[in-house]
Amino acid sequence: MTDARLRHLLSVSDLCAESATGLLDAAEAFLEVSRRPVRKVPTLRGKTVINCFFEASTRTRTSFELAGKRLSADVVNVSASSSSTTKGETLRDTVKTLDAMHADVIVVRHGASGAPAYVAERTRASVVNAGDGTHEHPTQALLDAFTIRRTKGRIAGLKVAILGDIAHSRVARSNALLLPMLGAEVCVAGPRTLLPHDSAALGVRSYDRVEPALEGADVVMMLRIQRERQGVSLLPSLREYARQFGLSAQRLERAAPDAIVMHPGPMNRGVEIADDVADGPRSVVLAQVEAGVAVRMAVLYQCSQDPDERES
Ligand code: NCD
Repeated sequence: MTDARLRHLLSVSDLCAESATGLLDAAEAFLEVSRRPVRKVPTLRGKTVINCFFEASTRTRTSFELAGKRLSADVVNVSASSSSTTKGETLRDTVKTLDAMHADVIVVRHGASGAPAYVAERTRASVVNAGDGTHEHPTQALLDAFTIRRTKGRIAGLKVAILGDIAHSRVARSNALLLPMLGAEVCVAGPRTLLPHDSAALGVRSYDRVEPALEGADVVMMLRIQRERQGVSLLPSLREYARQFGLSAQRLERAAPDAIVMHPGPMNRGVEIADDVADGPRSVVLAQVEAGVAVRMAVLYQCSQDPDERES
C-alpha cells in the first residue's frame, strides 16, 4: 500500500484509489478485532492520540476514542467547552501546546472549514480531519465506502444517490470525491436552496427533486439539514421539506429492490427520513457506526507510523 501520502488525512484528495482501498482492507482486519471478546491489540502502544473536538459530536468522537484505545494508544480528549479556548486561547496556541506534549496524531473537528489544515501546518503530529465546517469529513466517506463494499460486495458500478442538504454537508462533499474515485456513479439531490451554488464543482450530477436521483439507486444516503450552518432559514417549513424530500417507504420503492439506506447520523426522524425506513430492513445505519471504529483504527494506524516506517 502506498501510504506515504497519509502523513495527514485532511481531505479525500489526500488519497488515491489504491491508498483508499488499502485503508478499507486494513479496516476489515480491525473490524474483526472489534468483534472479539477482548477488543484490543498492541499496535499503537506508546503512541499518543489527542482528539480535539471544537464542535458537537457523538459517533465521530466516541469512535475515534475507541479506535485509539483498541489499538492501545494513549488517548486524550479535548473538547471546546473544557479547553482553554473558552478563556480566549487561539487555535494556534492550543496546537503549539499539544505539539509540545509530543502527540503522534491530532484528530480535529472544528466549525471552521480549513481548521485541520491550519493545525497540520503548525505541528509535528499527523493530523486527521474529523469534520471541518462545510468542507470535508474524510473518515465518514471511508466508513461509508467500507459499509457499501461489505453490504453490496463492491463499490464500482453502483449508483449512489445522496439526498438532502448538500450545500452545507461535508459528508456529501467527501463522498462525492471518494465514491467516484472507487468507481461508483454518484448524484446529489435536494431543494434548490440547499444545493451548492456551483453544483458542477462537486463533479457529480445534481437534481432539485429526489425522484430522478432515486430511480434505480443501489445506495440511498440521507443527510440532515445543517441548520447550524445556515445564516437564514433556507426552507419554508420542515413539514413541507419532509413531504417533498424526506425518504418514506413509498418513495424508496423507486430505488433498486435491494437498495441500502444510509445516514451518517444524527438522524432527524420524520424530517429527512421516516421511522419505518430508518429502522427498516434496508437501513445500514448501525453497520455504518460499527464500520466507523474499524475505519478510524485503520486511519490512526496509517497516520501514526514513524516517517521512516512509512512505505513509499
Ligand atoms: C455528520 C457531521 O458531523 O458532519 N455526522 C457525523 O459525523 N456522523 C453529519 C451531521 O452532523 O449531520
